[in-house]
Amino acid sequence: MNSNPVDNPTFAITTPLYYVNGLPHIGSAYTTIAADVVARFYRLMGHPVLMITGTDEHGQKIQRTAAERGVMPQAHCDEFAAGFVRLWELLNIDCDRFIRTTAPRHNTIVNEFFQRVWDQGDIYQGQQQGWYCVSCEEFKEERDLLPDQRCPIHTNKSVEWRDESNYFFKLSKYQDQLEQLYAERPDFIQPEARRNEVLSFVKRGLQDFSISRINLDWGFPVPVDADHTLYVWFDALLGYITALQDPDEAPSLDQAIARWWPINIHLIGKDILRFHAVYWPAMLMSAGLPVPDRVYGHGFLTKDGQKMGKSQGNTLDPVELVKKYGADAVRYYFMREIEFGKDGDFNETRFINLLNADLANDLGNLLNRTLKMAARYCGDRVPEIDAEIFGDDHPLRAIGVSLGQTVSAAYGHLAFSQACAAVLALVQASNKFVDDQAPWSLFKQGKQAETEAVLYAVLESVRQAAYLLSPIIPGVSNQIYAQLGLTADFNDKAIGQGLNYSDHVAWGYLPPGQPLGVAAPVFQRLELPELVPSS
Ligand code: MSP
Repeated sequence: MNSNPVDNPTFAITTPLYYVNGLPHIGSAYTTIAADVVARFYRLMGHPVLMITGTDEHGQKIQRTAAERGVMPQAHCDEFAAGFVRLWELLNIDCDRFIRTTAPRHNTIVNEFFQRVWDQGDIYQGQQQGWYCVSCEEFKEERDLLPDQRCPIHTNKSVEWRDESNYFFKLSKYQDQLEQLYAERPDFIQPEARRNEVLSFVKRGLQDFSISRINLDWGFPVPVDADHTLYVWFDALLGYITALQDPDEAPSLDQAIARWWPINIHLIGKDILRFHAVYWPAMLMSAGLPVPDRVYGHGFLTKDGQKMGKSQGNTLDPVELVKKYGADAVRYYFMREIEFGKDGDFNETRFINLLNADLANDLGNLLNRTLKMAARYCGDRVPEIDAEIFGDDHPLRAIGVSLGQTVSAAYGHLAFSQACAAVLALVQASNKFVDDQAPWSLFKQGKQAETEAVLYAVLESVRQAAYLLSPIIPGVSNQIYAQLGLTADFNDKAIGQGLNYSDHVAWGYLPPGQPLGVAAPVFQRLELPELVPSS
């Protein structure tokens, strides 16, 4: 077991805390799958990992949604937060902390944090005038609005004029410090295009932003003035800190940041970049806390090339999708198909074709036919071959020796699609290798050693592929390991302590002579839905 804190630092990753104004949509599922994949990859390497997700439950948007449904806000939040928990279970996402911003312990952390910023002299009372989008929970600049005062993001919603007394946070005071942060730590905001957006926004000059609301009671009261309610974003961002603490401990800001702070990666969608890459680090600087390592803003998903939305009538229900096709299929599609950081599309035909090609055919059939040959030609055992006999020019070993490094670098950069492509290249080379070498004919010719060498190389390649894809398709990887006669549970959070990373990531680990398991398809082919003619 690796317990050296230098080799084995802790790793904490967050998703946004999702609004509970509706059930989770595919965008929330997308970020949470990605965060789970990264968390699993760090666990595989043996790091202590904390994956945080949760729900953002205060503010006008939630209050109005509850009122429209005729239920009390807390009852509304309880009901909808449960929908997120359920979806994460269905998607085989096992977060370490699920934080709800209405938790009483969160109020304690928020108050302590507010006090620090207050003591710093960074909060003052003023008059806020401007256009507010309740759906974004954000003031908009007049020049960014669409005709008829509509929000540029929620294009069917009008913004509302506000003219009220608010408390403000002195964001402008942190202009220089923020610019210095971006200059000294070029990796702080990723990908590059997002970083540039933030840099040009900050360059235009930062304005103080209001952190309280009046005429709203669904939120925490401002500690110094109970007539005001804290702005939902000020409260929500602090959820990342509250989440660090064990829910059973007495809440305390110092205790909360004692172990996992600063967060290593905040994974978010590109629309909420400004909050995470500008407001949040400035708030932390004011409170005297270190800022996170990285803020990564991923792209938006469309369906069949169209923006998704209730008004467009083309939403994609993640619960239905996962019930229809299974967790591994959904996880694989989004990680493989879309270049993380860029916008991407969901199309059901493409979904089915991709999964059939990669998982059912290339990977699944390869294992199945090789296992059957190993049963027939090698007495149902891994061939007694020492992987050292393969030269550097062996077509599979040549790929396998550097694959671990390539794929781990890709996971580290959140380049999930590249990670999958690199692994699939080994799988495809293995299929070609079997076809070229024709072990059935080698066996017929009595060439036992050659037959065994071919089968060992292919079985080992499938094993390495399963190991490297396990953060994305843990269910399929579990089956592959079991069929190869190996004991592993890729859903076990202590996996990195059970399986030695350097052994398993390398090509050539498969123990010669080991009894094999029973061959069975690891991924069932998916059927194309019948085409319904559009009228
Ligand atoms: N509550 C805030 C976050 C507070 S974090 C302290 C919030 N919630 S949200 O539920 O509206 O959005 C959550 C995430 O979903 C955002 O990262 C947003 O980018 C993402 N997505 C919303 N629609 C999306 C797509 N169509 N595609 C991909 N992600 C999308 O904002």
